[in-house]
Amino acid sequence: MRRWARTAALTLVVTAAAGGTVAGAVVWFGWYDVTATSPHTTPVHHLLDTALTRAVKTRSAGIEAPDLADAERIRNGSRLYRAHCVQCHGGPGVAPEPYALGMNPAPAALVATARMRTAAEVFWITRQGIKMTGMPAWQYRLTDDEIWDVVAFLRVLPALSAEDYRRDGAGLPPEAPRRTAQPAARVGDARAGRDALQQYLCVTCHAIPGVPGAWNYVGPALGQMGEQPYIAGVLPNTPENMARWLRSPGSFKPGTAMPDLGVSEQDAKDIAAFLRTLPDGP
Ligand code: HEC
Ligand code: HEC
Repeated sequence: MRRWARTAALTLVVTAAAGGTVAGAVVWFGWYDVTATSPHTTPVHHLLDTALTRAVKTRSAGIEAPDLADAERIRNGSRLYRAHCVQCHGGPGVAPEPYALGMNPAPAALVATARMRTAAEVFWITRQGIKMTGMPAWQYRLTDDEIWDVVAFLRVLPALSAEDYRRDGAGLPPEAPRRTAQPAARVGDARAGRDALQQYLCVTCHAIPGVPGAWNYVGPALGQMGEQPYIAGVLPNTPENMARWLRSPGSFKPGTAMPDLGVSEQDAKDIAAFLRTLPDGP
């Protein structure tokens, strides 16, 4: 190797090592400010915003929107928006709930979003959620058709006055239909089941091998679930029984601390398929 090349390589390695040491120190000594009360600096804010915009553009390319002008769609979207979105994003004349006001990053006013982003982009964000912001992934709670309903409503939202928004809501039934009513469409898929464990908060209560973040002992460890003869000591451990337990633990063991998390039939089948593979995993 030439002398200059060796010097350049050495400089790079030393710089990288120094950078790594500084980053390590910031983490280890707790110098990084993780509080929600201190906003990101302007450069960090711009960086994250650009990363989000680029990711959304790239990944939503090719999604075709259905007819969003359909009146029934907009009406159902309005109902879903009131049930699931206004709490964080607010609406014309409606402030977000106190917990949403304390979020960092702050949930955007979707009136502005609907003007800036295409329908496919809004559909994609709503379906997938945004990591580390508090924006939930709605695909486990709403069908794709329902998400398009919300997108259709967001298209008309910028044109609504506070009075329009209030009046439209008066004629709508308060509770939106839940996705849990959807029947299962295919056999259980272990990999889809592993993803669903994050989405129903299973990871916050159970230790599950191979699942990042699932190292909690509020409930029993699930590492041997494929081989255990009974579920919670009350149900023989078959895939059908597991799906039933996950959807309604209280009806098999009244008073149990495991909550009913509104797991859909398909997601319950997928999770049961995953638990069946333990301890080895899919
Ligand atoms: C628990 C609070 C919360 C709920 C509920 C929520 N969101 Fe969000 N949402 C956020 C946060 C936080 C962000 C990220 C900050 C940002 O970019 O606005 C976000 C971002 C978004 C964005 C991207 C905004 C942009 O222009 O960057 C869209 C679109 C969106 N949400 C749609 C929805 C829809 C539709 C619903 C209802 C089905 C919903 N959100 C429910 C908190 C929430
Ligand atoms: C708030 C905490 C909590 C959440 C969230 C939770 N569980 Fe549980 N889970 C428990 C507790 C507590 C038990 C023990 C129930 C009992 O025996 O009464 C349990 C029991 C179980 C059992 C039976 C374990 C055994 O040893 O027989 C399985 C399987 C299970 N949970 C899976 C899940 C899955 C999958 C999810 C997500 C859909 C989930 N749990 C979400 C707390 C939780």
